Amino acid sequence: YSLLFGIAKGDVFGKDQVKGRKKLWLDLHYVTSQLILLGLVYPCLFHLFSEVIPTDKEEVAFKDLDAAILVGSMPRREGMERKDLLKANVAIFKSQGAALEKYAKKTVKVLVVGNPANTNCLIAAKSAPSIPKENFSCLTRLDHNRARSQVAMRCGVPATQVKNVIIWGNHSSTQYPDVHHCKVNMAGSDLACFDAVKDDDWLKGAFISTVQQRGAAVIAARKLSSAMSAAKAICDHMRDIWSGTPEGEFVSMGVYSSSNSYGVAEDLIYSFPVHIKDKQWKIVDGLAINDFSRGKMDATAAELVEERDTAVTFLSA
Ligand code: LMR
Repeated sequence: YSLLFGIAKGDVFGKDQVKGRKKLWLDLHYVTSQLILLGLVYPCLFHLFSEVIPTDKEEVAFKDLDAAILVGSMPRREGMERKDLLKANVAIFKSQGAALEKYAKKTVKVLVVGNPANTNCLIAAKSAPSIPKENFSCLTRLDHNRARSQVAMRCGVPATQVKNVIIWGNHSSTQYPDVHHCKVNMAGSDLACFDAVKDDDWLKGAFISTVQQRGAAVIAARKLSSAMSAAKAICDHMRDIWSGTPEGEFVSMGVYSSSNSYGVAEDLIYSFPVHIKDKQWKIVDGLAINDFSRGKMDATAAELVEERDTAVTFLSA
């Protein structure tokens, strides 16, 4: 519900869709019992929408897609083992990957949001073998935005004056929010984050744990997981895929690890700093990594390897 508004007013694919005669089609692939929600979409009458197609049929929802945002997943319920959660989600993302394979354009850009987002994304990619794995990504922009705003609040500047934070790894509490390459614009000049914040203990301690635990803190406060901030992050992520990242800036997203970049194991969806141009992402290379960062990057990679190895045992089932 929070996401539709951003797409509808042009925050993702642009506001010139009508001028360019590329109106938006929105396929809402709800389970049948939720189709009623569409009553909330129709009255909005956003001019960018050419058509809204409410459907619970894969062959309608996935047909000729250019962009797919896979938001839903099976949430963890009380008493549920992590393994059971993975099993349920492998079934969902295997079927969504197969539907993409069968019906979507081979150029489709797929953003996976439902948790565990990285591993769900990997399963969807593996289930759509004729779509390049580079077309799949998962959301860590939410964590990236959280890291940016934590630094901004600490420095008393708007978040737009903080750039190049990095989220490494899994969208889970093992993620590593890294500010070693972050710049804060203060009084007109770009300062290294450590010089701007002037509190190394906070940056190496509470800052990291706050960002890592933010999702859980939102759930504890609202009894529901994040919605508005997640929707904003989804819009930011997909907009950057569509239109590219600004010169000199990078963003974080979970992407397919295939070339041992930064020593990260292959065949994972791992969050890296990326530049995007012409709808292609490229991992920012050559960033110096100190021992502090190395240990945290490896720990989150180890969790992803374990998740993947458990998930793939369910793939053939
Ligand atoms: C978030 O980071 O806010 C969510 O991914 C948390 C969750 O588990 O839904």
